Order: sequence, then C-alpha cells, then structure tokens
Amino acid sequence: MTKIHRHPDPDSLAQATAEFMQAAILERVKQVGRAHVVLAGGSTPRSTYQNLGRLLAQSELAAGSLEFYWGDERCVPLDDRASNFRMASESLLAPLPAGTFEAHPIECGGNAPAAAETYEGLLRLAFPSAARPRFDLVLLGLGDDGHTASLFPGSPWLAEAERWVAAEHVDELRAWRVSLTPPAINAARTVVFLVQGEAKADAVRQVMRAAHDPVRRPAQIVEPLDGELHWFLDEAAASRL
Ligand code: 6PG
Repeated sequence: MTKIHRHPDPDSLAQATAEFMQAAILERVKQVGRAHVVLAGGSTPRSTYQNLGRLLAQSELAAGSLEFYWGDERCVPLDDRASNFRMASESLLAPLPAGTFEAHPIECGGNAPAAAETYEGLLRLAFPSAARPRFDLVLLGLGDDGHTASLFPGSPWLAEAERWVAAEHVDELRAWRVSLTPPAINAARTVVFLVQGEAKADAVRQVMRAAHDPVRRPAQIVEPLDGELHWFLDEAAASRL
C-alpha cells in the first residue's frame, strides 16, 4: 500500500509527519511495549523531529519504549555538524525524558566498512534469528538525484539481497557513507518518505512516475515487502506530480 500525503507548506508538513510518526510509534508501543524506529538524516527532518520530540515527551512513555536507529550516516564524529546522529539528537532526542529511549548511532569515524559490519551486528542482536530487521517505522529523505539513505545512483548496494548495512565511498561526495540496504529498509512495517521544496519536485516526479530503474533512481528500490509506504510532501515538492 502506498499513500501520498500532501501538505501546503513546510510547517504543516512537519507537523503532519510528526503526528503520523507519533501515532505509529504509540500504536506499536501499546501492542508490544517497544517501537524500533529508523531516522533519516539530512536537513529536512529537523523540524519534524522537533515536533515529534515535543509530542513524544508528552506521551508518558514507559522506560525503554523507544529504540532509535539511523538509516545512514556520514563518516564523521558523532558531534560533527554534519552528523545525522547529532541533528536528530538536538531536535528529537533532547526533549525526551531520560530512559525513554535507547539511541543506536552508526559510529563511522574512520573505517566505514568496519562500521557497517559493526552496525549490522548490532541490528542482528536487536532482531535475533530474523532474516530481515522488522523495523516498525523507517523515515527516509530524498535527494534531488533520487538517492535515499546513502544509496546513490549506480551504487552496487542497490542490488544487495542479503546484507543489512553497507559502506560505500560516494565519489560525487568524495566521502564514505554507511547505509541500510534495500532488504533492511523493505522489511519495515511502515516506510515514510519526507520530502519538501521545489528543488525536489523533479526527483519526486521521476521516482514516482518514471520507468522503474533504481540504479538511476535509487528511491525506487523502496518497496516494503509486507508494509506500508507513505510519502509526506509539501505542495512545492509535489508540484510536478
Ligand atoms: C543524508 C541523508 C540523505 C538525505 C537526502 C535529503 O545523510 O544526507 O540521509 O538521504 O535524506 O540527501 O537531504 P536534505 O533533507 O538535506 O535535502
């Protein structure tokens, strides 16, 4: 099931996305006592995370209710301004009562392949004896080139069928990245793309309407096997649909 949610502007988009994420998280916590949530990086999610942090802080969650993971990370120190962990920590995690959550950052300071191995090991402990990690909610962004997480056009990891976490030197960025692979993303119960702004409108159109070619448009690889796919867009990002 794929659903598109269109909102007039960035502020209403951030509020609606936060409310959707809160509802999905609280439903899962109510069902099984815990929610496993994968966070996106980049800059778009910041205001959504600020809203979600406030909503979850008011939700009277028991200790240990939330497990946060990252869909990808830049290979920088966790306190670096470019760190996806730092961005989420400042916006989403800061207002949450201590003990409510456990954060599992991708620590990729120096050796990305080793960091990917380590993170995969962490996930396999979190989802023991599972063929795939069944995250309750995965939030993803979209690059203007159609990338998502750190799966960039032409990445060999787009064809990965077994590994859950990958490391790649992204030539156009001249930097190493660590990312969840398609199998890890597509095993989720709910996947949410959060995209805003005119600059992303062409990428949104290409991913949604152009021929299926994930090597050129990596976000097209996201097709939850047994889960829901939601697109949260502001009107600017949706303007070419
Ligand atoms: C990252 C991301 C990446 C991001 C998109 C959109 O580490 O950069 O995970 O996939 O979501 O590039 O980034 P913006 O939200 O900054 O446009």
